[in-house]
Amino acid sequence: MKKVHIKSYGCQMNVYDGQRMADVLGQEGYVETATPEDADLILLNTCHIRERAAHKVYTELGKLRDLKRERKAQGQETTLVVAGCVAQAEGAEIQRRQPAVDLVVGPQTYHRLPALLAQAKAARVVDTELPPEDKFDHLPAPKPAAILARGVTAFVTVQEGCDKFCAFCVVPYTRGAEFSRPVAQILAETERLAAAGVQDVTLLGQNVNAYHGEGTDGRSWSLGRLMRRIAEIPGIARIRYTTSHPRDMDEELIGAHRELPQLMPFLHLPVQAGSDRILEAMNRKHTADAYRRLIDKIRAARPDIALSSDFIVGFPGESDADFEETLRLIGDVRFASAYSFKYSPRPGTPAAELTQQVPAQVMDERLQRLQALVEAHRQDFNRAMVGRRVEVLLERAGRHPGQLAGKTPYMQAVQIESTAQRIGDRVMVEIERAGSNSLFGRALERPELAA
Ligand code: 5AD
Ligand code: SF4
Repeated sequence: MKKVHIKSYGCQMNVYDGQRMADVLGQEGYVETATPEDADLILLNTCHIRERAAHKVYTELGKLRDLKRERKAQGQETTLVVAGCVAQAEGAEIQRRQPAVDLVVGPQTYHRLPALLAQAKAARVVDTELPPEDKFDHLPAPKPAAILARGVTAFVTVQEGCDKFCAFCVVPYTRGAEFSRPVAQILAETERLAAAGVQDVTLLGQNVNAYHGEGTDGRSWSLGRLMRRIAEIPGIARIRYTTSHPRDMDEELIGAHRELPQLMPFLHLPVQAGSDRILEAMNRKHTADAYRRLIDKIRAARPDIALSSDFIVGFPGESDADFEETLRLIGDVRFASAYSFKYSPRPGTPAAELTQQVPAQVMDERLQRLQALVEAHRQDFNRAMVGRRVEVLLERAGRHPGQLAGKTPYMQAVQIESTAQRIGDRVMVEIERAGSNSLFGRALERPELAA
């Protein structure tokens, strides 16, 4: 039996791609292993979004070169593959820096893995084409057992690439132009997931709310329309989507938040900064007030919605006053959670050419202040749940024996003590306590058994 170890970095789409690569390799007789030491094939599914993420790949590859040598000394061959966005961005440069790499494969050609691996036996291979064929037409459907092993939640890529060209971002270059999968293809995939026991799907795209795929009526469908159709699939109890751009939050999507019970009251809507001057320099195509008005509209549709965002501190030219505007925006919106990053210049992006770089120490201070504020809001949001009853989908065994862990509709992690419930149950839970990273509660009734 051949074994493959897949390690994914970065965003959720990489997790999804990693699973699809496992499905492709499964057809070739590979089974997945969690330990690289006993893998015949090691695949790094990489991220290029910030310098640190890209740098990590080379550190990891150094270790894997040593492992490959050790295995070789014991008479075992190891194939080393670099996939994902660093593969797309750096191509053959990766093998120049680390000659132990046998194959470099981009995010749009991994359906060709079997053929590429065969070629790589003879000589090192790079495939970072953006091919005319659609990889999704060539990917095997995951087996029900593989779906089940991945749990009751699943990702479904509905859209890839981005046409927004924010000045700091590599995505339009690594993932290419916006592309939407046809509705029929997405429905078939989601129906298969649901039939195998998946209850919670997250629709993925680099700019997911720009979705405009071909509908079952031959017309172009928006994300809101797609979601209404997905909500009709028996067994799908929860729908989420990520990541969205403020400019693409249309009426149909906001309406779906009002009307669709399956659409969870959680939205990740990156704003990046709160100063109009910086938003303009970032080419974000919206102002801070436009974002505030949009949030008001979304909250009018779904008052209890939990909001999340991404922030970049220290974009070139960001002054103290600009940064204060970002804090003011955070204070106005009060996010339930947020990710924040120090600006990292990326090769090939317009912002990398800008000269007014913010000193590292200033960036550190700003990041700390921003994170402290966001954290205070997150804790407030979580503490406000204490005493409330919420539905929790139990996703996995908890931290300690006898505990099960799951999520509220608002994306909060919850731990319950339980003997009567099982993974896959949706239970009403009374929240008793808010810890720093999880809520703790007790199940109130016998669970609805999973279909
Ligand atoms: N530097 C820092 N953060 C970045 N992001 C994207 N590009 C960069 C960069 N060059 C952040 C943005 C984006 C998230 C996925 O990563 O906040 O929303
Ligand atoms: Fe990058 Fe998102 Fe901007 Fe697209 S919308 S360029 S993915 S930050």
